[in-house]
Amino acid sequence: MRLSRYFLPVLKENPAEAQIVSHRYMLRAGMIRQQAAGIYSWLPLGYRVLKRIEQIVHEEQQRAGHIPLLMPTLQPADLWRESGRYDDYGQEMLRIKDRHERDMLYGPTNEEMITDIFRAHVSSYKDLPLTLYHIQWKFRDEMRPRFGVMRGREFYMKDGYNFDVDKAAALHAYNRHMVSYLRTYERMGLTAIPMRAASGPIGGDNTHEFLVLANTGESEVFYDDRVTGLKLGARQVDYDDRAEVEGICKEFTTLYARTDETHDPALFDQIPEDHRKVGRGIEVGQIFYFGTKYSEAMGATVVTKDGSKVPVEMGSHGIGVSRLLGAIIEASHDDKGIIWPEGVTPFPVGIVNLKQGDAAADAACEGLEKALLAKGLEPLYDDRDERAGAKFATMDLIGLPWRITVGPRGLANGVVELTSRRTGESEEMSPEAAVDRIAQIYAAHR
Ligand SMILES: Nc1ncnc2c1ncn2[C@@H]1O[C@H](COP(=O)(O)OP(=O)(O)O)[C@@H](O)[C@H]1O
Ligand SMILES: [Mg+2]
Repeated sequence: MRLSRYFLPVLKENPAEAQIVSHRYMLRAGMIRQQAAGIYSWLPLGYRVLKRIEQIVHEEQQRAGHIPLLMPTLQPADLWRESGRYDDYGQEMLRIKDRHERDMLYGPTNEEMITDIFRAHVSSYKDLPLTLYHIQWKFRDEMRPRFGVMRGREFYMKDGYNFDVDKAAALHAYNRHMVSYLRTYERMGLTAIPMRAASGPIGGDNTHEFLVLANTGESEVFYDDRVTGLKLGARQVDYDDRAEVEGICKEFTTLYARTDETHDPALFDQIPEDHRKVGRGIEVGQIFYFGTKYSEAMGATVVTKDGSKVPVEMGSHGIGVSRLLGAIIEASHDDKGIIWPEGVTPFPVGIVNLKQGDAAADAACEGLEKALLAKGLEPLYDDRDERAGAKFATMDLIGLPWRITVGPRGLANGVVELTSRRTGESEEMSPEAAVDRIAQIYAAHR
């Protein structure tokens, strides 16, 4: 992509309405535009990151054996009357009437609809286990939409639903989701800690929220700081192996980590003092086992091996896809702008031409562009007729993790400069070596 032909409406001034750094940088880097309170257009740069995040979520869900589908944003109210939630949901639900005066709503979540799909098509244990998920826009008429995409009214969410024949199988599905989420966040360069969450009216303790530590987070968190060192890393997981998956969940949930809703001061005090931490976190996901709450209300049953008919066991599991952009920026930025982790960056590398119009510099930039494209890595080439300082400032703001700087002086010695956005360190090397290095770096991420 050539910057001269792209649409990157960068703002010079700090937007007054942005209270936190991620919101400020998303506006300044031309990633989003607010269209109404808590409702955003995704401009090209923001859209690219959103799609990267979505892609990672899809890959990790499918790796765990979960099946994608797509349900609509608009739902008939009657489904929600069956579960009793049409009246319970209150003012957060956006209610709409169609031309025939039928009650509709813009879905805030999809338990009822997925249960309806299930009961229409599945009736035997032989079709289980089954986990269906989608990534779709949701609407919740939040009282206080704020912090940009972090707490929107319209937001993009992955929501998945497991259907199992008994509680043990449903808890395995719960554990599978936990592990797949850990891997998902790690690929995005995030440390998201599973924390025991409030069980609500359903009871039991089978719900966890995933929190990214950040001072601007909306939740207060209490944790043993040794949890932040736990990593899945490159280990292979057999998602069908119940014991293995459960073992990983134990590893990540044994150390104390809770939000203010479930905090237990007596337990907390047992942590060695130098590991006891209080902070704030951003909720980027939640998993939930709720058993037969919806299947009983809506008549979703299966026939078991011994011929009896039972309501299917379920759970639901969400990832805040659009919120993740904000969370990643909160966790990874400096005073010049965003620093994208390689896993989610909108472009793997930027090319800065120090002397646009210089035949050698132009040719070298075009050569780099071609060589990177041939390796499946699309660079953002700043080919504008601008001062070097302005080009660097734009690259720093939009946060591409790597930059190749090309100028006549270096080229006379056969070198370009490769710079890390994170460390600021530069290294001179031949254009070919720079391309190889970038390819090597991204081999681990794509
Ligand atoms: N208003 C919102 N704006 C952006 N993301 C949201 C919003 N509400 C929820 N999410 C994301 O969707 C995920 C799943 O939603 P859920 O747990 O049902 O939400 P909540 O915890 O607000 O009830 C949350 O973990 C969060 O990351
Ligand atoms: Mg939640």
